[in-house]
Amino acid sequence: MIAPDVVVAGGGVIGLAIAWQAAARGLSVVVADPHSARGASWAAAGMLAPVTEVHYGEERLLELNLESHERYPEWAGELNEASGRDCGYAETGTLMVARDADDNRALNQLFDFQQRLGLEVERLRGRECRQLEPALAPSTRGGILVRRDHQIDNRALLAALLTACERAGVHAVNERVARVDLADGRVVGASLDDGERVSCRTVVVAAGAHSARIEGLPPEVVPPVRPVKGQLLHLRGAPKERLVPRTIRGLDAYIVVRPDGRVVLGATVEEQGFDERVTAGGVQELLQAGFELVPGIAELELVETSVGLRPGSPDNAPMLGETSVGGLVLATGHYRNGILLAPVTAWAIAELLSTGEAPEIITPFSPRRFSNRRVVTGAGS
Ligand code: GLY
Repeated sequence: MIAPDVVVAGGGVIGLAIAWQAAARGLSVVVADPHSARGASWAAAGMLAPVTEVHYGEERLLELNLESHERYPEWAGELNEASGRDCGYAETGTLMVARDADDNRALNQLFDFQQRLGLEVERLRGRECRQLEPALAPSTRGGILVRRDHQIDNRALLAALLTACERAGVHAVNERVARVDLADGRVVGASLDDGERVSCRTVVVAAGAHSARIEGLPPEVVPPVRPVKGQLLHLRGAPKERLVPRTIRGLDAYIVVRPDGRVVLGATVEEQGFDERVTAGGVQELLQAGFELVPGIAELELVETSVGLRPGSPDNAPMLGETSVGGLVLATGHYRNGILLAPVTAWAIAELLSTGEAPEIITPFSPRRFSNRRVVTGAGS
């Protein structure tokens, strides 16, 4: 293989988006992954929900999430054009609902927090929620309407990215990057699982939950990423006019209805290491939570169970940018926001790769913020 400018380790949404944008800027790019466009990116529900998913203490991450959200319509349009496919971006809005008085108190707190942050949210009574979405449970106590939290069909997105990469000249290799090769403290290549060595001066680690498994890195630059398991269900048979046109979120589950009537019901959040089994308990938990939000779910056909391993990080925020090893760039640890953060991540990392300068927006997410931590081994076991 002719030496590329960049090897991207990982062909999920982040790796493919970076590869596409770096190649569009004239760099020669290899993406290495035995299962490109699968994994957590494939399992995801595709919610673009920075406001609904805001968490206390994560205001800095919110800024990045909002920036990426802002970029989505244009980015999706460019991707549609580059790929000749529809990447499935849909402006549906989100309604967060309370099943009972306890949930409603939690929504009060969340609403206050969202308002303090200046976010666009509307507090609704139960009756108003049901006027908007008659399929909601009669017991619905109240809600928060977030008109600008949308969705993308993550599988259509991945298909579009694969095609856009191919058209931009990205070379896809069906092997895992097993090791980053260093000489004199800088990157000189990447060794693949089959033993092939690809010479390059830059490796971007975008291997999601598997990022810490890549060998050859000094301990201080190994990304502190761990798998956080999410189980999801796919249901079919929602009426053409759609069961609920908006994304519905409860405190324990979410329901995303695709324009074709497929329903994604997710997701568990489990610290189980690299366990990818679908469990009876997980399915039961999701169905129960789904029924409590939208009882009509019970009429649908259960067509798929899936598991994704979110790349969790110590502060729930991604690691983006250069490390102390020359030529080693990280774009991993996106945890619950991989699909949402694809546009801003791809733009920022492609900018770094092509100009040598990282945009300011990713400065707070430098991987160096973890380089003094106590090294935890076994994240890749
Ligand atoms: N962002 C949705 C999830 O991680 O389940």
